[in-house]
Amino acid sequence: MLPNETTSRALQAAAALEQQCFANGWTSKQISDSVEYGHAQLLLSDDSGRIFGPYPDSITRPSDMISGYLLYSAQPGTPVVREVLRIGVAPEHRHRGHARALLEALFSLCDSHARVWLELSEANEAALGLYTRAGFQIVSRRPRYYGQSDALLMERLASGHEA
Ligand SMILES: CC(C)(COP(=O)(O)OP(=O)(O)OC[C@H]1O[C@@H](n2cnc3c(N)ncnc32)[C@H](O)[C@@H]1OP(=O)(O)O)[C@@H](O)C(=O)NCCC(=O)NCCS
Repeated sequence: MLPNETTSRALQAAAALEQQCFANGWTSKQISDSVEYGHAQLLLSDDSGRIFGPYPDSITRPSDMISGYLLYSAQPGTPVVREVLRIGVAPEHRHRGHARALLEALFSLCDSHARVWLELSEANEAALGLYTRAGFQIVSRRPRYYGQSDALLMERLASGHEA
């Protein structure tokens, strides 16, 4: 099924940011395929920190001044685990809390008992700082998964409180 115009705009904004944020970023096709076939959902932030989405469910047209994006897995019928697939903020909008706001928006969309997990390179200091500050904990490590650097698997209960 082809995305509607609102979702197309959101996907284009995310794809453009992905290229700014990563040397070997996902292509726009990979991003749209993850939404269309992988049931991923997309959140956006704008230059004033307002959150839009999640797409494709939301019918609210995204701002023309998108600053950041968060793509997460959202398999139907499995509300227990959400995975952060991609997150990025345009260089000129960093250090203003936009990534943290995107994560908070994801937590607020989850069931309280849901777990959010993600993987990152331990060499990515900004991402490690972001996730640690947001309450994620390291649950596993894949040695030298990224060349010389380990991959870290991190997890947090969406509600922020362990039972
Ligand atoms: C990682 C990234 C998304 C952070 O975005 P951001 O909007 O600047 O982050 P925020 O302003 O919301 O920062 C939240 C917390 O993250 C941490 N943080 C952010 N940038 C950091 C940096 N460069 N070094 C260390 N910690 C950092 C801080 O603890 C900060 O909390 P504080 O301001 O209370 O100290 C951004 O740097 C980015 O897009 N990087 C390139 C893409 C990427 O690596 N994505 C993650 C892949 S796993």
